[in-house]
Amino acid sequence: MIQKMDENVTNIEETADEKVNTDTTMNEKAVEAEHMEAEQADPEVEQQDEEAGDSAASYLPLAADQLDLAKQYKQMMLIYEAGIRQLTTKLQILNREFEQSNDRNPIENIKSRIKSAESIAKKMERKGLPMTLSCLTNNIFDIAGIRVICPFITDVYEVARMLLSQTDVELVQVKDYIREPKENGYRSLHLIVKINVFFSDGMRQVPVEVQMRTIAMNFWASTEHQLRYKKDKVITPEMHARLKKCADIMADADYQMQKLAEEIHF
Ligand code: GTP
Ligand code: MG
Repeated sequence: MIQKMDENVTNIEETADEKVNTDTTMNEKAVEAEHMEAEQADPEVEQQDEEAGDSAASYLPLAADQLDLAKQYKQMMLIYEAGIRQLTTKLQILNREFEQSNDRNPIENIKSRIKSAESIAKKMERKGLPMTLSCLTNNIFDIAGIRVICPFITDVYEVARMLLSQTDVELVQVKDYIREPKENGYRSLHLIVKINVFFSDGMRQVPVEVQMRTIAMNFWASTEHQLRYKKDKVITPEMHARLKKCADIMADADYQMQKLAEEIHF
């Protein structure tokens, strides 16, 4: 199994648009490779209120000032990719361990991505931040992103608890859109964590955004994203209401499934 996990991790491939895409299950299920929905600017989304810092973050390469910008950027992305690999492996191990003791997987699949340079630039602009690497590393915490899909709501919280109990994972921020869904019906548990990763010149704490949701929540978020993606099409208030209704139906399905799981002593 350990052999298998290693293979999985080395299989992460970097594509031309700098996105890393891992799709992982531990029980040898064939899972289609999918990308996380592209990042989007959402005015409703609460903005983090960090100040534009100028000092280089601890996870920047030590000799950063001697490298040219493009090289530094590439090196930074390598660091974020390593953060994703490390966190993915942790989640795989937890999933495998849980499977052995409970005969089922609390994680349905894991997807990951590195934010594209274009999305990073847009976000920096939106936040009114100067385009410097140090400002980027000090203010943008979702450059590395992992999405974890779980069957049941309790799995989401249990996997989050198991992950956060590890001493090399530091919790930076929680946004619980399951307990408090967004107005449009979006549900998910968002964590920002810093994970320790060792490189040749020492350890760095790499920030990674982890979005955790149930299959039902993911169905809604993925389809809603597709509907909203076409910027030239107008979504009327009546359509928004229908989308919200779909989110509520999904939430009810999650609740019913959770109740069934408890009755069956899952
Ligand atoms: P950003 O600055 O946009 O990253 O905002 P934030 O980090 O404050 O936002 P938040 O933590 O709320 O999450 C942003 C990410 O969550 C988005 O990039 C999406 O992946 C996801 N997300 C948030 N709201 C929605 C939504 O209404 N629909 C969908 N489909 N995804 C959402
Ligand atoms: Mg974010």
